[in-house]
Amino acid sequence: MAIEKVGVVGCGLMGSGIAQVAAQAGCQVTVREVSQQLLDKGLQGIEKNLARLVEKGTLSAADRDQVRGRLRGTTNLEDLKDSDVIIEAIIEQLPAKRELWGALDKICPKPTIFASNTSSLSITEMATFTQRPDRFVGMHFFNPVPVMKLVEVIRTIATDPKVFDEMVAFGQRLGKTVVRTSDRTGFIVNRLLVPYLLDAVRALEEGVGSVEDIDNSMKIGCGYPMGPFTLLDFVGLDTTYYISIIMFDEFKERRFASPPLLKRMVLAGWNGRKAGRGFYDYSDPAKPKAMQLT
Ligand code: 3HC
Repeated sequence: MAIEKVGVVGCGLMGSGIAQVAAQAGCQVTVREVSQQLLDKGLQGIEKNLARLVEKGTLSAADRDQVRGRLRGTTNLEDLKDSDVIIEAIIEQLPAKRELWGALDKICPKPTIFASNTSSLSITEMATFTQRPDRFVGMHFFNPVPVMKLVEVIRTIATDPKVFDEMVAFGQRLGKTVVRTSDRTGFIVNRLLVPYLLDAVRALEEGVGSVEDIDNSMKIGCGYPMGPFTLLDFVGLDTTYYISIIMFDEFKERRFASPPLLKRMVLAGWNGRKAGRGFYDYSDPAKPKAMQLT
């Protein structure tokens, strides 16, 4: 089956990026948000990204107009009923996912493939919210989606191998490098990335180095594009904390356990860049100020 019509649920940071790359890859995209306000915010983000590409000469104005023409926003879930594939990128809460997948399962015809962009929840469990576990996969993108070239495609024990192959090909069509993986919490990237980020917080707690020195060590010493604290602020401390809870629950290993400092910062609402404060203070966004532990 050729995938031409793509439904995206959620037009936040991840959903809007997924909608953008799918429209740029030539798909007809319908992206749904719960409110017009959130939808407008997401679509404005896409518009800004496309404008930047035109400015840089990566995309012609005519191509930008075609991408726009292939992209439609809605607040009505029913508008996704003709999709060949639906990619879900809503809040990482199982009850919300259960309600959404149950509704989509009734709206969409049997051949529609369902894919979740979850970073840590079980794809197998989500598939049980539908009558089509054989047509259910994970498709995990990375932030910022238009820039990061990787997508993890995840199969469960119930996924039809043909559907899995179709979604691998679809990921490639989106211009991504696809890695195949199975439904184990954290998949490949977060399995390795989350313990590293948590260890950086533990090193800070233990006084091994300051926020800036630990960041510079990994950035300059190892060539990472961002140090662990800059990355934590970028991903969101709350997001990382919730992923760590799910991973610890699954594996019961210390390396997945959240350090007390991370939990305290999340409790205080210091969730990183989006909150204006995390391991850095972004009061002056051009000059983030590192947190000093006393
Ligand atoms: N949307 C679209 N494009 C963006 C962007 C955004 N949010 N942010 C940056 N870009 C583009 C810029 O326009 C620029 O494009 P160009 O090279 O064509 O001019 C390019 O990305 C580089 O941007 P900058 O020069 O402004 O800044 P950097 O060189 O520092 O790159 C970065 C920014 C790409 C974010 C880089 O710092 C990076 O790769 N950081 C690590 C990101 C990462 O690890 N992401 C994965 C997080 S884990 C995850 O998402 C999984 C989840 O489950 C937790």
